[in-house]
Amino acid sequence: MRRQAILTGFVQLACNRVHRSCPARARTFSPMGSTLQAVRGMNDLLPAQALRYRRLVAHIASVLASYGYHELRTPVLERTELFVRTIGEVTDIVEKEMYTFRDELNGESLTLRPEGTAACVRAVLEHNLLYGNPQRLWYEGPMFRHERPQKGRYRQFHQIGAEAIGFGGPDVDAEQILICARLWRSLGLSQVRLELNSLGDPAARARHRELLVAYFERHHDQLDEDGRRRLHTNPLRILDTKNPALQDLVEAAPRLADMLDTESAAHFDGLRERLADAGIEFTVNPRLVRGLDYYNRTVFEWISDDLGAQGTICAGGRYDGLVEQLGGRAAAACGFAIGLERILLLLEGKPALADVQTPAAYVVHHGEEAARVAAAAAERLRDLGHAVIVHGGGGKFASQMKRADASGARFAVIVGESEVAAGKLGLKPLREPGEQQLLALDAVARRLAGDPA
Ligand code: HAM
Repeated sequence: MRRQAILTGFVQLACNRVHRSCPARARTFSPMGSTLQAVRGMNDLLPAQALRYRRLVAHIASVLASYGYHELRTPVLERTELFVRTIGEVTDIVEKEMYTFRDELNGESLTLRPEGTAACVRAVLEHNLLYGNPQRLWYEGPMFRHERPQKGRYRQFHQIGAEAIGFGGPDVDAEQILICARLWRSLGLSQVRLELNSLGDPAARARHRELLVAYFERHHDQLDEDGRRRLHTNPLRILDTKNPALQDLVEAAPRLADMLDTESAAHFDGLRERLADAGIEFTVNPRLVRGLDYYNRTVFEWISDDLGAQGTICAGGRYDGLVEQLGGRAAAACGFAIGLERILLLLEGKPALADVQTPAAYVVHHGEEAARVAAAAAERLRDLGHAVIVHGGGGKFASQMKRADASGARFAVIVGESEVAAGKLGLKPLREPGEQQLLALDAVARRLAGDPA
């Protein structure tokens, strides 16, 4: 009853919010008997896609682990306040993209996480992981933003992100950029470019903001509606506009780069030197400001031109003030997040993530007792680290062998009456010439592991 009430409240309130912010898309529940579809902008991953996703995450996680990053898992729901305080009240995400609802039982406002950094810092503080012990962490999972769906932009999308908390030097910014560069290389993504900027310290940003507001006020008549709305709330974001009519105006606007504080300028020089040492190419884009308020100093984006409008595959930067802002003792930090759907789009058709999982062996069997022996042998082979499929659904050996072939397995393991009687297994290579042999289970395991016959 209680649970039902929560769920009903969740659905109604989430729907209310979506309907309010997007009345044209307001939908009613389908009548009984009609086919239900997934929520717009939220996708199913069918087995082959899920496998590619899993492999991609495993690959990125292993690279992150090789740089000393450890996994952190946080809930998909957080208190709304966390995102308002960190991402910023007058950002697109908080103003119009969050899935927010009220928990009817205690009146709390909750939000499906639109990103991972805020929760990561919250968890680090809540569990006291930090002091004297800087943390390199990574996380992965679904994020939710109520944006207009298109290729590469979804309402439920997935990020893998990394955060280095308690590190102030440009060496960590550089390390994170090198991690990304290593990932793109290992995934065969060569058409990816890096854009960098420095947002300076809060005082430099405040000075820049004043000059920016004065400048745009002088050109008020040239601003579009969005620009006028942002002029006094978030003028920095005007620099980010995609409106071609504003490009000249924005190009001539006061630049933060010209008024960086000495320390931020030195930090930025340090980062650029390290990137040059490592042979990483980049362009400094003075208009790169990012859509979340928590950044200072370094910000960066990796962009692919093969994805159309949604070309940013990874983005991040420094957020030295966030830990303190969330109630902790000041600790510098830097991080990035990769949009996994966008990487998967770029990898479509590439061998880096093969489409089918290739099992080491496919076990065919005939007869009651053989079925039990087959199941037990497969379990033992799995214990030894091999991926093994056991045929299901009966049928003649010939048709089972066809399935074995279609599975992509390197070997067929055959269990018939004679194998059961001998206490051994038949093993036949499927991808290279070779006769069927009668072998003990250990010998079969060695062959699956690559030992020659
Ligand atoms: P963000 O730029 O909002 O940054 O998102 C990072 C990446 O997530 C984007 O570059 C993009 O690849 C992907 N992404 C964002 N929105 C969508 C969407 N609607 N559909 C598909 N992919 C999307 C952050 O989220 C920061 N937390 C990154 C960070 C970590 N900064 C410091 N640490």
